[in-house]
Amino acid sequence: NLTYRYALVNEALASSFLPVRALDSNKHDHGYLLLIAGSRDYIGAAVMASEGAKRSGVGYVCVASVDEVCRMVASKSPECVFLRLDENENGRMDLLSFGRLQKAMERATAICIGPGLGIDDDTRALFASVLENAKCPVIIDADGINILSENINVLDSVTVPVVLTPHIGEMARLLAVDSQSILNDRYELVGNFAKRYGVTVVCKGYRTFTAPAAMGAYMNTTGNAGLAKAGSGDLLSGIIGALLAQGLAPEKAASAGVYYHGKAADLCQAELGQMYMQPMDVAHYLSKAYPKL
Ligand code: APR
Ligand code: MG
Repeated sequence: NLTYRYALVNEALASSFLPVRALDSNKHDHGYLLLIAGSRDYIGAAVMASEGAKRSGVGYVCVASVDEVCRMVASKSPECVFLRLDENENGRMDLLSFGRLQKAMERATAICIGPGLGIDDDTRALFASVLENAKCPVIIDADGINILSENINVLDSVTVPVVLTPHIGEMARLLAVDSQSILNDRYELVGNFAKRYGVTVVCKGYRTFTAPAAMGAYMNTTGNAGLAKAGSGDLLSGIIGALLAQGLAPEKAASAGVYYHGKAADLCQAELGQMYMQPMDVAHYLSKAYPKL
């Protein structure tokens, strides 16, 4: 019986996972998210991810990317801080500048890597070095997941908490099976994968399903097909990254992030409609989605 195995995430459960904000808190109390995202061909992914992050309570969002991406994010989110890395011949972050990430990685309370990253030898090396040196929880999305799929066993040597946010196609790549077999047996396959590799897996789509590394699982109840547009996933990874950076346990950050991302989309749909709504619109409805605290 499915209802025994998965908790349905509703407002009461999701809001119980959210961080508290003390009356006398300052920005250092609310975490530091290092967002490693974007490349010349994917200028916008970091814009959506940073928007989701900065609207989800985190004290700092630091964007590490190539110059053009940093400029674009700065124009939309002047609140962010930046780590401008050199660009290689493919318009992606250059291996030689990775040393500059080290300081930000020391400071980070969570790292989000993957949206719009692209894949080449430099981004593969960047990804490996982040997984090796991270001292905080890491959320891996999009091309981060695609790079991970090339050698999934690197997860065995990772000691920090990891959250993966694959859509069905990316989940299929991680498991090296076709998408249809995932749709046929989603809960079993995703749950077993999460336990085998000791990671939290957010299997996205209609009724996103979160499988923690340990026991239990969460089934989401919010969201709509207005989210079926490029950029919705980037927004979500920023939201979950921000919640992780504020110290939430991986499965709580993931399931609450999915819930409020979907709730914002439902509120957005009610006013703007599924055809018209865009991920950046959804981000604004986080204002009405989150409890006022
Ligand atoms: N109902 C509810 N939620 C939905 C629906 C739906 N019918 N369709 C999509 N969503 C939600 C998903 O649950 C997920 O949170 O929208 C989000 C989509 O995320 P992704 O599939 O990761 O899409 P995104 O990354 O924004 O854009 C596509 O992903 O894999 C990369 O390279 C690929 O550029 C492409 C990009
Ligand atoms: Mg995606």
